[in-house]
Amino acid sequence: MNSLSTPIQIIRPETIEFGSGTIAAVARFAKAKNAKRPLVIADAFNAARVDVLALPGDLSVFGEVKPEPDIPNLEKALAVARTARPDLVIGFGGGSAMDLAKLVAVLCTGSPTLADVVGVDKIAGRAVALVQVPTTSGTGSEGGIRALVTDPATRNKAAVQSPFMLADLAVVDPDLTMTVPPQVTAATGVDALAHCVEAYTSRRAHPAIDLYAIEGIRLVGRYLNRAVKDGTDREARSGLSLASLYGGFCLGPVNTTAGHAVAYPLGTRHHVAHGLACAVIFPHTLAFNMPATEAKTAAVLQSLGLPAAGTPAAAFDHAYRFCADLGIEMRLSALGVPADDLGAMADEAHAIRRLLDNNPRDLGRDAILQIYHAAF
Ligand SMILES: [Fe+2]
Repeated sequence: MNSLSTPIQIIRPETIEFGSGTIAAVARFAKAKNAKRPLVIADAFNAARVDVLALPGDLSVFGEVKPEPDIPNLEKALAVARTARPDLVIGFGGGSAMDLAKLVAVLCTGSPTLADVVGVDKIAGRAVALVQVPTTSGTGSEGGIRALVTDPATRNKAAVQSPFMLADLAVVDPDLTMTVPPQVTAATGVDALAHCVEAYTSRRAHPAIDLYAIEGIRLVGRYLNRAVKDGTDREARSGLSLASLYGGFCLGPVNTTAGHAVAYPLGTRHHVAHGLACAVIFPHTLAFNMPATEAKTAAVLQSLGLPAAGTPAAAFDHAYRFCADLGIEMRLSALGVPADDLGAMADEAHAIRRLLDNNPRDLGRDAILQIYHAAF
């Protein structure tokens, strides 16, 4: 863990509009920038309601963002962008749409390809404006500098990180999340929680980021159940939108650890939705890490409103019950993950060193396999 005197870069979008009705800020920004050719990157559902953005000019829409987007999906979006020649790119949707919007914004002009920019700080600049508008509460992608796309050849997530992918404007209007169904609300809410918990307990945790992490955890504990029960509960939706944004603030400077590394193969190999994968793995990594980060694990449970846990087994039980009570299916076997793939999944997760190296406790390949068996 870092101390207060450890240098850290705190990264946030230039402007954040937060709250009910802030959607109108997107059109205001486009007009102020004199945008003539805005391009919206969205999934089919959000592409169908693109009118709510009220964008001026000659609007183009790429409405084919897939869940867990892969490189061919990005190439398709880039082909649309190269024809549309946008001066403003808007990510409108969940993390998939916002991540693709980041990459489109930096790759649609000039010559670099995705392969040129995978890694940290490989991008020279950005020529078009970028606005992010989340429609779910989970990824926090609107607040961050990182984008992930799946490479179908390796089934790994290619990660691009650059301050040039930070939005000029993030518009976090909780009203846009009101129609998210209960099961997706639950899973994406635990994704936001996982960002906060993993950053808070990371080897790279930092007091300057801990405040976002612990407040994000508290907001999830207070509001996730309410939003799952009643999707029109505006206060609960607002609380989750803020938790998601705070989770996003944790990702740039600190990032996730074992929870996400162990969850990724569920998505890349078996198409389990990202939030759901994170939820299934969350209690396991929380309990595994507890011996290395006891005080912070206690703070996590307390902030979630859960009973204190004297042992990792008790921490597991409380966290598991929290997720299961939200209606989340917590068994890999019920999510279409075949038993004979668990070994290959463990190999793949164990290779994600960019996350595992920051886990507070060393997590070997066999320990990952044990987690998969226990979650099966
Ligand atoms: Fe996540």
